[in-house]
Amino acid sequence: MESQSSPYMVFPGPGEMAEHLASHLREIAKQGVGYVALSGGKTPQPLYRRLAAMEKQLPWERFHLFLVDERYVPTGHPDSNFRMIYESLIQGISIPSENVHPIPIEDQLSSCAIKYEELLRTVILQKQGELPVFDLILLGVGTDGHTASLFPGDRILFEREKLVAPVMNPMVDHHRITLTLPVINAARSVFIIARGREKAGIIQDAISGSRPDLPVSRVSPRGGKSLFLLDEGSSPGTRPNREAGSGER
Ligand code: 6PG
Repeated sequence: MESQSSPYMVFPGPGEMAEHLASHLREIAKQGVGYVALSGGKTPQPLYRRLAAMEKQLPWERFHLFLVDERYVPTGHPDSNFRMIYESLIQGISIPSENVHPIPIEDQLSSCAIKYEELLRTVILQKQGELPVFDLILLGVGTDGHTASLFPGDRILFEREKLVAPVMNPMVDHHRITLTLPVINAARSVFIIARGREKAGIIQDAISGSRPDLPVSRVSPRGGKSLFLLDEGSSPGTRPNREAGSGER
């Protein structure tokens, strides 16, 4: 099967990227309620802070916020994704606490995944037998091509039943809990964000379609769209001084 290249946009900074994201969120809000899953990691932090600064421009009360993945650590831990998302975004916006859905950290790793899956099925409206559909899933990407907590070579990449899975990968510091590909690929839109020159190689591989084996390359929403949101450093074919936001292809 011939691989296809993926669309991307290049932004001069997190402010412009946040503007793009905010306008997408405003479109989602027009439908009434929006279900959004947010990524952890370092890359989205400035983006979340910018979104929080635009607080008044977004009807946050219409959104339900979930996490893409979580590290198996207590919520106050420095590596907790929820802690980062709370501090950079949630504490700065007016959103009812019942619309915020962190991944629960239970005694057993497997229970965290089971409980979160139950929560997804309860909160996100779905037709009988169908997958819950997120309006937007925001993903990051690692230099090895992982996305969410879906790592190269992990059998969870082939998961078909579970919406949420526990991850025990010896290559990473903490056990994780992650949304699986079936739920990611059921989303209406998926934005994959990257920043910095160290990501340029893997982004090139993913965008060109030359590495269909990479976890990030397996993100392909069936009925929706996916888009890479990049800075100049991580962009394939980086050209200095490109005009703001003009990299859409
Ligand atoms: C996490 C993630 C993960 C992350 C990438 C990129 O919990 O770490 O959700 O998929 O997005 O590892 O991380 P950085 O943004 O820190 O480079």
